[in-house]
Amino acid sequence: MAIEVVLGCQWGDEGKGKVVQLLAQGADWVARFQGGANAGHTIFVGGRRLILHQIPSGIVEPRARCAIGNGVVLDPLALAEEIAGLEAIGIEVRPRLTISPFAHLVTPLHKAAERLGRQDRAIGTTGRGIGPAYAEKASRSGLRVEDLLDPGRLGEGLDALRLRLRSEHGLGDAALDEAVGSGREDIRSRLEAAGRTLAPLVGDVSALLLESDDRGERILCEGAQGALLDIDHGTYPFVTSSSTTIGGVCTGLGIPPRRIGRVVGVVKAYATRVGLGPFPTEMEPGEADRFRERAGEYGATTGRPRRCGWYDALLARRCCRINGVDELFVTKLDVLGGIGRLRLAVAYEGRPGEAPDAPPGEAGGRDWLSSMRLERARPRYRDFPGWRGDLQAAARFESLPPEARAYLAALSAETGVPIGHVSIGPGRDQVLAVTAG
Ligand code: IMP
Repeated sequence: MAIEVVLGCQWGDEGKGKVVQLLAQGADWVARFQGGANAGHTIFVGGRRLILHQIPSGIVEPRARCAIGNGVVLDPLALAEEIAGLEAIGIEVRPRLTISPFAHLVTPLHKAAERLGRQDRAIGTTGRGIGPAYAEKASRSGLRVEDLLDPGRLGEGLDALRLRLRSEHGLGDAALDEAVGSGREDIRSRLEAAGRTLAPLVGDVSALLLESDDRGERILCEGAQGALLDIDHGTYPFVTSSSTTIGGVCTGLGIPPRRIGRVVGVVKAYATRVGLGPFPTEMEPGEADRFRERAGEYGATTGRPRRCGWYDALLARRCCRINGVDELFVTKLDVLGGIGRLRLAVAYEGRPGEAPDAPPGEAGGRDWLSSMRLERARPRYRDFPGWRGDLQAAARFESLPPEARAYLAALSAETGVPIGHVSIGPGRDQVLAVTAG
């Protein structure tokens, strides 16, 4: 049986947690391959709202084993807390979770580096130390999970990182402690304690997944963030620091592309973005405020109000093509109920290049959509009449109002991918399989 992948195809916050929770039913493994505690996957278990940051959402499926791959940057202190929180409500975690020894570590020093480097303000990052941890990884000076298990190496690595931070920012020892919010020994002993907790969980994720696949078991890979936040293919520099697109699955877990059989692309029925960067279909402030309230669009990790806008089929199409998406999972359709006019961006006016209406890549490749160009892009919309009433009661796709089905049909056609499922409410069972249109 081939490996399945769930990927966000917008700017993150597409509702992947719920999608994974659904698809994880019957799965043998659910694996995270990139990102870290910047993710916030909201799921509902027994009427309780849970936000998972590092542990795969599949953990709520009692049969599934979960993996954190080498492509993740792991905050061991936050992970130990997340494990304790889940175990406190009766979800067994430790016997079912495997962590790659090659995942890089995020420590309080990395979070301080993010604040000192002002990336948090220039890009609107989540403050979880993601950028500095991936920067250390790429410059080959990072600390990995295997170092967490060796107090000597951990201490040396932390001291070297302290020295680099001090010299980069011209700080004395005490000033660094103040910027970090705790001292050298305190950080070290807390990390050593987390290392003792996590040591039994460390294992060869790549080998375990490949052996499981050899046995014909079901493996689900869970993306965090979305394609437009990808370090290469997103709206650089307003992106996260990892590969959120399909290639990240292979490098972040150690699995070959040919083992991947099905790619589910998750999109919201509209668009949101947290942090700075271009957002061509963003609503005007007053409209966005009203929309945010009705949609409850506040960051799961940071609580920040999300920027709100209309579905951008050009960008979604590009994300789906890069990821090789087989089917769309459209979330939060119910949120659009009661809005008189729904908008779908299908082209940009006045784009550079020869064919302003052409989908990206179809004007001889000369009208690529960089952040700079997207800042200037003016979307051209197709408008659709909305529907009245609550969708949440719909039992079948066919019983959705015709306006909702027409909107979805256009969304699918303009994105160039069929829709497999539509989510019409926060509950796990509020999902309709699409049988037509
Ligand atoms: P970082 O990942 O914390 O470095 O933040 C980089 C950018 O990605 C910022 O604009 C964040 O708001 C955004 N970002 C990171 N993680 C998420 C997420 O899980 N959902 C939505 N946006 C995110």
